[in-house]
Amino acid sequence: MDAQPNSPEARDIRYHMHAYTDARRHQESGPLIIEKGDGIYVEDSAGNRYIEAMAGLWSVAVGFSEPRLVEAATRQMSKLPFYHNFTSKSHSPLIDLAEKLVTMAPVPMSKAFFTNSGSEANDTAVKMIWYRSNALGQPQRKKIISRNRGYHGVTVASASLTGLPNNQISFDLPIANILHTASPHHWRDARPGESEEQFATRLAEELDQLILAEGPETVAAFIGEPVMGAGGVVVPPAGYWEKIQAVLARYDILLVADEVICGFGRTGNMFGSQTFGIKPDIMVMSKQISSSYLPISALMINERVFEPLADESNRIGTFGHGFTGGGHPVAAAVALENLNLIEERDLVGNARRVGAHMQKRLRELASHELVGEVRGVGLIAAIELVGDKATKAPWGKPGALGGLVNGFLQQNGVITRNMADALAFCPPLIITEAQVDTMVDATRRSLDAAVVQVRG
Ligand SMILES: Cc1ncc(COP(=O)(O)O)c(C=O)c1O
Repeated sequence: MDAQPNSPEARDIRYHMHAYTDARRHQESGPLIIEKGDGIYVEDSAGNRYIEAMAGLWSVAVGFSEPRLVEAATRQMSKLPFYHNFTSKSHSPLIDLAEKLVTMAPVPMSKAFFTNSGSEANDTAVKMIWYRSNALGQPQRKKIISRNRGYHGVTVASASLTGLPNNQISFDLPIANILHTASPHHWRDARPGESEEQFATRLAEELDQLILAEGPETVAAFIGEPVMGAGGVVVPPAGYWEKIQAVLARYDILLVADEVICGFGRTGNMFGSQTFGIKPDIMVMSKQISSSYLPISALMINERVFEPLADESNRIGTFGHGFTGGGHPVAAAVALENLNLIEERDLVGNARRVGAHMQKRLRELASHELVGEVRGVGLIAAIELVGDKATKAPWGKPGALGGLVNGFLQQNGVITRNMADALAFCPPLIITEAQVDTMVDATRRSLDAAVVQVRG
């Protein structure tokens, strides 16, 4: 890119290695530098304003300029800027947040454990599950089943759970004891004529067969997002979670709900587990817990999980796991205030109401010649782009069309994210119907601009 030698763009290229970026290409294209945010909007260094249709990274529920979160952080920073929870130490924000989470939980939960990111939380879940099996005298029960297209993070264990090639190729992953089963994407993977129910039944049978082939006594847990996010916003087919849970119950296998995206309102209920009738033993939360104003994540565990962990830690003398920043007081104070705001402003109800409008408006795009499927629930959705509607084939290389439309959307003042050819929408929970209309209209213009290039 053509940047002045000491411009922020040039210094970004010189000094900064980006996450989830082609590092070589970045040297040519340079960064989009975001300077500030307000409400559902962000503004770049050239003064261009965008609707942040991804809420950052599926996370900024209350919008980009909430003073009450700033005040909560400032108050806590002045009072106790840091403390930890090792060796029985504690502090008020952490106690309050743990109580808040356990009382909000849609199924009986026992304890909250704090971490700093979704990945750390999922690595913690894996370690807790293994520790529990050892505590129960079942050292052979170590396998964890995840799903293709599932996203659970990037640390060593969580990237192993993730079912996307880019998180494993050249990283020498997955590690041992992680298995993958089919993703519940009816539009892409159902057989001709197979109904959603039939497809869900088949996936449950496949899971059953996998468990039997591996040996049920070796399988400890199953992990899934209520709605898959980074795998392309895959909404499970009718009956899916009920059938999957029936299989898990047959073999006494723990269920981990990764609520990192779905948690705190995204699907139109406080938790995705409520939307889909999921009864997890472990719930993993991050992102909207603090609207990502500060990094914090948590796991909730039920008595089935906590009791053996407590016994084993007692036998060994400690639960040898925890993070310096886990349950950081400033992050915990911000999370508490953020959860208060979500409740006070009925942002879950807003996700349901404005979400229904967003789903309806986006589905109007289903007849567009480049759109294969529109899917979603609440305030999360994706448009699957295709080169050929009849065969569902991509245009050129997978992801080429997604990148093209994503680029046009940015020019049209909307930041989205394309996961290959799935274009995702996951705006802040405060979005209004009028703002949704602006976003969808820009999407139609971007699709039309893409047609010119694709067919031209
Ligand atoms: C469902 C889910 N789990 C885990 C993670 C990992 O979270 P983090 O990026 O904070 O490590 C993500 C991130 O997008 C996610 O969407």
